[in-house]
Parts: sequence; C-alpha cells; structure tokens
Amino acid sequence: MHVKLWEGRFTQETDELMERFNRSFDFDRRLYAADIQGSMAYAKALARAGIVTADERDLLLDGLSQVRDEFEEGTFQPAPSDEDIHTAVERRLRELIGPVAGKLHTGRSRNDQVVTDVRIYLMEHLDRLDGLLTGLQGAIVEQAEDQLDLLMPGYTHLQRAQPVRFSHWMLSYFWMLQRDRERLHDARRRIPVCPLGSGALAGHSLGIDREFLARELGFQAISENSIDAVSDRDFILEVLSGGAILGMHLSRLAEDITLYASAEFGFVELNEAYSTGSSLMPQKKNPDSAELMRGKAGRLVGNLVSLLVTAKGLPAAYDKDLQEDKEPLFDTLDALELMLPVAAGMIRTMRVNPGRMRAALDDSLLATDLADYLVRKGVPFRRAHNIVGRAVRYGIEEGKSLRELSSAEWRRLSPLFEADVVDVFDFERSVEQKSSPGGTARSAVEAQIAGARELMAT
Ligand code: ARG
Repeated sequence: MHVKLWEGRFTQETDELMERFNRSFDFDRRLYAADIQGSMAYAKALARAGIVTADERDLLLDGLSQVRDEFEEGTFQPAPSDEDIHTAVERRLRELIGPVAGKLHTGRSRNDQVVTDVRIYLMEHLDRLDGLLTGLQGAIVEQAEDQLDLLMPGYTHLQRAQPVRFSHWMLSYFWMLQRDRERLHDARRRIPVCPLGSGALAGHSLGIDREFLARELGFQAISENSIDAVSDRDFILEVLSGGAILGMHLSRLAEDITLYASAEFGFVELNEAYSTGSSLMPQKKNPDSAELMRGKAGRLVGNLVSLLVTAKGLPAAYDKDLQEDKEPLFDTLDALELMLPVAAGMIRTMRVNPGRMRAALDDSLLATDLADYLVRKGVPFRRAHNIVGRAVRYGIEEGKSLRELSSAEWRRLSPLFEADVVDVFDFERSVEQKSSPGGTARSAVEAQIAGARELMAT
C-alpha cells in the first residue's frame, strides 16, 4: 500500500487498522520545527564526516527549509504513509530534492531523533511557561499591593481562625508559584543534553561529531550512554511532575476563589470577562474560569501518572510504548499555557468586597489574642487557652459575643482580665501584632511584596 521505511524486509502490507494504531503524525506534527532543526544540524555533521559532499549538504539544507516553510505556511500536504513527523519530513524532502534525501538518515535512528526533537521543543516551551508563571505572579502581587489595608478571616479547616490581611492570603499563592518556577527551572537544567548520534541504541560508526551536533542545536552537553539516551523519558516526567504540582496549586487558588465568590462569602467578585451565565437560570454568573482551572488540574495529575505507568515496566532500550509520552506532555503544556494567562486575567480583574470581609470578622477570631493577653501576664499558655475556651463557651451559652462580656464577667473568668481587655477587640491591632517575618502585619506583608518583586525580576 504505502511505501515504508522498512519495506526491504517485509513482503506483506501493514493492516489498515494497524496503520492507524501505529500512526503518531497527528499529534507529533507539532515537532516539525524541532525535527527540521535537528535534521539540518545532522546534515552539517554528515558533511563534516565526509558522508555527504558540501553540495549535497546544501541541497539537504535547502530542501529542509522548504519543508519547514510548508509547515509554517500551512501548505504541507500529509501523505497516508506519514507515520510520524520524522517520516513525513523525510518523505517530503525526497519529493523535493530526490534521492540525496536518502542520505540524511545515515547513522541516525528515529529513536535518537525523536528524543532530540522533544528536548528541543521543551526548551522553548519551558521558557514560555516561565514567562506565564511570572505573569500570574505579577497579577497576584498587584492585587496584594492594592488591598494592603483589607482584613478578612483566615481559615483553618475552613473554620474562622484568626484575622489576616487579604494581601497575605493572596501572596501565599505567589510563593507556591515561585517554587513551581524553581521546580521547572530545575527540570529545564537537565534538558539541554543532546542524544543525537546515539543511533538506534548502540552509537554510530561513521565519525559523526556529537559535540558539534550539541553545539549546533544549543545543547550544553552530549548524553553519556546511548542506551540511556534513546530511552530516557525522566526529563519529560520531571516536567509532568512540575506541571501536576503547579496544577494542584492553581486548583487550590481556584477553589478559594470559587468559595469566596459565592453569595455566602461574597469576598470577591469575578469580572464578567472570566465568568459565564446559565442557559436556564437568568440570575447566574458562574466562576467557570476558576472551576475549569480546578478541573484541568486533574488532567495534569493524570498525565504524570499515565507516563509513569507506561515507562515503569519497559525493557532497555527504546520501545514503541514510548511513543505514548507525547500526548500527555503536549496536553500538560497546552493546558498550562491557557490556565496561567487565564488565572492572571481572572486575578487582575477580580474585584474585592471590603464590606463583606469586614462583616465576616467576628470576635471568635480574637480568642487566641485573648489567650496571648493572659500569657503576657504570666499565665502558662495551656491554662490561658482553657480560660478563654471557657469564655467562648460562656458567650455561646449566654448568647453574647466576646466583646459583649462585662468586666465583671471577665473578672469572674480570671482576675487577670482587667479593664484593658477591651483593647484586644481590635482586628487591626491583632493583625499588626503578627509582625514576625512572614506574618500578616503590614510591615511583614510589605517585606514579602518587596521580596516577591525581586524574585519576579530574576
Ligand atoms: N514515533 C516514534 C515515537 O514517537 C518515533 C520513534 C520510532 N522508532 C521506531 N523504532 N519505530 O516514539
């Protein structure tokens, strides 16, 4: 039926379903630029090794750049025989320049070729991801700076815990994203290692200069073991892992936003540009941007698990199972390249509702401050905790908030409660006392913002 790279050995045609099953062109075609870049470097290396003449090299380079133009202009016509991107480029090259195209694959295998392509592709995309991550960090820092005065309840177990600055909550996501950036930087460090010249698994015998190939393609080193080089996918797993953790952070941010945008909380309101309506209920304005963020995070975890499971039982060296590395990788990159800018837009345009946050501040959030009041008077913390706990219970029983207790009632709870206990009932004061580095006092949050701005610039 179609011409195959291996037709010398075979007498029968590939089954039609098998043909579809085997084909990766539909998803690996996006590697065309990396594939052609790799082939161009390879053509030059072949000329240096005396395997093609200078004229043949120029013919190859010229043909390859024509194929690239066709991909770029959208005029590339796939043939039914284009099993994968490597086959497609070589087939088209042969149509354009004739039999010299057949020299390009000398000493090379699709095994070293494909993994070279993915490494080239990833270098570019990780750099892009880093830019998108800082974009989101920037939106977070801007909101934090704009809302520095705003207080809200901080939660643990989703129960009101202690008052915090809204900025402090917002910035907690900055630091998660900063570690995500670091994780992806670290993964990026292991990517510029050039596998090309490893052949199918054993290396090559043709004097092709691997150091030259690495330099040509912007790699910093060559791989040390050809068997490892063609079957290593841990560089992809590291990206998927960094992506899954980043997705988990975005999902948590999305969950907070979804909750805070509900009528019950009403702390924030999403811009209509990042919301959708309902086809049935006219009043609805749904936080779909945040919900999809939470939803897509599941896929990112799935992509990591999918490749881990695919890779775990493979015998050395290349196995066709490894073709399954690409869809999870591309899916994770595509998802993040949308999630990050959408999250940045959502945060940048989000409105806060100071009244609702203020209304959610109730006296119970100051119970720990009351205990600290007693601690400052020499009461052991455990004892102070117990006294204030009893005050809370008393208030619940009497139907009074803590600040409504009279000085006589306080004294009955502990003689150490004096008239100045009323000073504790000040949320701003409570927050300002948390001036430890990393705390929620204004000075500490300002220091955080300064540190964050510095990191974003690197
Ligand atoms: N499409 C293949 C992949 O993505 C390319 C390598 C195929 N190698 C082979 N020996 N059939 O893994």
